[in-house]
Amino acid sequence: MAKLSVRNLSKSYPNGDSGETEALDNITFDVEEGELLSILGPSGCGKTTLLKIIAGLLEPDEGEVLIDGKVVEPGHNRVGYIFQQESLFPWRTVRQNVEFGLEVSGMPVEERKKRTDEILKIVGMEGLDDHFPHEVSGGQARKTEMARSLILSPDILVADEALSNLDAQTRNHLQEEFLRIQEITGSTILFVSHNVDETVFLSNRILMLSNIPAKVIAEYKLDLPRPRTRTSQACLAYRSQILDVLRVEQEKAMSLTRQKQSASI
Ligand SMILES: Nc1ncnc2c1ncn2[C@@H]1O[C@H](COP(=O)(O)OP(=O)(O)OP(=O)(O)O)[C@@H](O)[C@H]1O
Ligand SMILES: [Mg+2]
Repeated sequence: MAKLSVRNLSKSYPNGDSGETEALDNITFDVEEGELLSILGPSGCGKTTLLKIIAGLLEPDEGEVLIDGKVVEPGHNRVGYIFQQESLFPWRTVRQNVEFGLEVSGMPVEERKKRTDEILKIVGMEGLDDHFPHEVSGGQARKTEMARSLILSPDILVADEALSNLDAQTRNHLQEEFLRIQEITGSTILFVSHNVDETVFLSNRILMLSNIPAKVIAEYKLDLPRPRTRTSQACLAYRSQILDVLRVEQEKAMSLTRQKQSASI
């Protein structure tokens, strides 16, 4: 368990002849030990960019990432990452995918097997360990990815749209599984999503990002007991409050696009 701090992160990408795409604009926030913080933001606003910087996979132009108050440099491996696209190795079984990180670290076979058994059990994949990724459902594949990240006992877990592309029923089930697994592991989690209902169900806190370049525009602390009922008055009240802010942001983005289009005519 650890605390994550993000300080004044900014990032632009080169954009052909037309200069730069500014993706992140001075992003600052903390995720407390054991907290599940969700980030909600419009498509293309910079969420994956933010997670990659936090995980040390990408360098920011400005700002820094701290774990337990100490600055971490790009290339650090203290963050477990559940990727936006499915990223299991198709030629390895569920077990071989999950133990991949331990294999790379050189852990002896017996110890590795014991740890893999434990994690497979936690995520509920123990009976499917000899299946290949194409032989499991979309939900089971996501659980395998979760196990592959958790096996390294990361200080922080970041999940990029971890439960997208699943049918509603599987998604709801996996949200509950996600909370159950967090309760067992005590992980500090940063969870990116497009889905307002999902973030209200899961989070201790939600940060909302603006359209690109991403800035933090709102924060919601969800003082709701668990287990939560998705249709409770309290959940629905947060949902409607958040959707109102998102609608305003969407309208701003559309009006900006119209201005740009008319300027280029
Ligand atoms: N390697 C890159 N080179 C140039 N531009 C990039 C690169 N990666 C991302 N971008 C641009 O930066 C912006 C933010 O991208 P990012 O993937 O972080 O958004 P996102 O919020 O994760 O989007 P989505 O919700 O669709 O997953 C987008 O405009 C994207 O086109
Ligand atoms: Mg993304």
